Amino acid sequence: STDIATRAQSVIDEFKGLEGPLLPILHGLQEEFGYVPSETVPVIADALNLSRAEVHGVVTFYHDYRNHPAGRHVLKLCRAEACQSMGADAIAAQISQALGIGFHETAKDNSVTLEPVFCLGLCACAPAAMLDGEVIGRLDADKVEEIVAEVRS
Ligand code: FES
Repeated sequence: STDIATRAQSVIDEFKGLEGPLLPILHGLQEEFGYVPSETVPVIADALNLSRAEVHGVVTFYHDYRNHPAGRHVLKLCRAEACQSMGADAIAAQISQALGIGFHETAKDNSVTLEPVFCLGLCACAPAAMLDGEVIGRLDADKVEEIVAEVRS
């Protein structure tokens, strides 16, 4: 909509004079909208003299950017090494199956978005997750059930 276009343009204008403006712009858009609307990609590309593919590539490369609005809850699962060595893959599979979504996806009922994160600084309590900004350590089957119940409630 024109509203998105106008708001996006002011974010772009604010940062495009910086050296290396792309990441600050994407960060600003995510702050403004909660995600990076796909219709802003061509606008950014024009402003920075990049191709749309380049901008899109950066949006998808950085796991912190979303290309759609998040669900009511955001569940981030740590995918980094210490958590991997403590069974994070099995936990991720269990959660993904219970919620019916993979990473970077939002449940159809809009209850939850599942995202990967790379180290929450909670390695001593691996495997770790973050639900709506709150860290949860030592994930096990019981905690997974609690998380699933909470995002569904
Ligand atoms: Fe998962 Fe550090 S590796 S919290």
